Amino acid sequence: MLPFASLLLVDRRLATPVYQQLAAGIVRQIQSGRLPPGTRMPSTRRLSQELGLHRQTLVMAYAELQAQGWLESIPRRGYFVATHLPVVTPHALAAIVPAHVYPAHTGFAFTAEIPLPQSPAQAHQFPLAFDDGFPDVRLAPVGLLARAYRSVARRASSRRHLYYGPGQGTEHLRKVLAEELRATRGLRITADNILITRGSQMGICLTAQLLLRPGDAVVVGQTSYYVADAAFRATGAQLLRVPVDAHGLDVNAVQTLCQQQPIRLLYVTPHHHHPTTVTLRADRRLQLLQLAATHRFAVLEDDYDYDFHYASSPILPLASADAAGSVVYVGSLSKSLAPSIRVGYLVAPPGFVQAATRLRRLVDIQGDSILEEAIAELYRNGDIRRYLRKAVRAYEARRDLLCELLHSQLGGRVSFQKPNGGLAVWVRFAPPLSLPAVAARARQLGLYVNDGSFYDAGRAPQNALRLGFASLNETELREAVRVLAQAVAEA
Ligand SMILES: Cc1ncc(COP(=O)(O)O)c(C=O)c1O
Repeated sequence: MLPFASLLLVDRRLATPVYQQLAAGIVRQIQSGRLPPGTRMPSTRRLSQELGLHRQTLVMAYAELQAQGWLESIPRRGYFVATHLPVVTPHALAAIVPAHVYPAHTGFAFTAEIPLPQSPAQAHQFPLAFDDGFPDVRLAPVGLLARAYRSVARRASSRRHLYYGPGQGTEHLRKVLAEELRATRGLRITADNILITRGSQMGICLTAQLLLRPGDAVVVGQTSYYVADAAFRATGAQLLRVPVDAHGLDVNAVQTLCQQQPIRLLYVTPHHHHPTTVTLRADRRLQLLQLAATHRFAVLEDDYDYDFHYASSPILPLASADAAGSVVYVGSLSKSLAPSIRVGYLVAPPGFVQAATRLRRLVDIQGDSILEEAIAELYRNGDIRRYLRKAVRAYEARRDLLCELLHSQLGGRVSFQKPNGGLAVWVRFAPPLSLPAVAARARQLGLYVNDGSFYDAGRAPQNALRLGFASLNETELREAVRVLAQAVAEA
């Protein structure tokens, strides 16, 4: 007989009942080959004596194993390891992983190389943070959203939303959003032009997957949103970088590229270029649309912070002037409400929306229909617009304050343009300094700033930081700039 007392270990401190621990232990012995098919098991009486357990515990363990098909009971003869189980060559005892250890590595190969830089430290784990330009979630109408969610979830007429629903997003939200985007952004669309996504990033990734094959050329800014870069690279596409100046992407450089080789996709954040915050000038917008129509490349317009503009009315998206069907437009509620509310949208001609919906279903059958319905209600009753008016006023004051503080406390070290919209200021350091050292020192002092490496994708060091101001109130902004100035002085 096997030395069951040393093989079947029981830990009474665990929540798992003892008989289940025993059953699991016996299964491991069967799987390891030490109890081959057909082996006669010791009687429950004998094993209970050997293990020092109550016999009834063994009776329950054997019954469990019989129910699971590991043991067979033969009347008047006892319990046997089921004969239909595969024969396994026994492992050396030492090679057997203890039951409580989960394997540290897979036993199979997989693609571990995802071209995304290490996730940045979680900015909001620090007492203060200059994030990438995220909203102040303390101002967001989370209470109203929670109430709407609860009310939709409880409504009898909403019960269907608890079943699987449309991968494209609920029809109600798509209709409300089509109206909203028509009214605020001049997009002449209907619900059929919209796929509700989990955020802009999903829209970017779906577009990349639908369009790009290895070797395809994608045009992006000299510095550009690094997660979008990664989504394009993941398809095997090659990134071609064009300069970005005070008026956005250099569209003449795009034209030159088009004359040299086929371009498949161009990614642009025209309202406020990420990370530099500059707005794409009107003539360049028109020139870009013409180029796209002529050379038949797609324009992926990421309008991640359209709702925030301070100096004038917002400039309408490229998509509002696109007659050729060149533009795929993505946006989300991450900046308008809160980043963890994973609701965004992709807008395009219906054929593309349908293909994107099918592709989305491969990884994410659908979104959260109840949440989508709740958001539709907040749009419909004007809550989101009211909140945005309030948030824009607060963020404008914070932008002004950050710019004043940067002038007064870091004036000799930095240069920047006050952005006319968005939630961040792009700050260049001159003379150049070690941003990783500044970031490290600031973090020691309790302030998160990133180390600038995400903006250096084009291999031209930017020596700049994107300082998000929206999530810091006045007191926090003053303290954050004081700490940054100290970190700059000491680094
Ligand atoms: C330029 C840009 N695009 C897309 C995203 C992704 O946003 P989400 O997927 O939360 O909508 C972000 C997030 O910060 C961003 O800055």
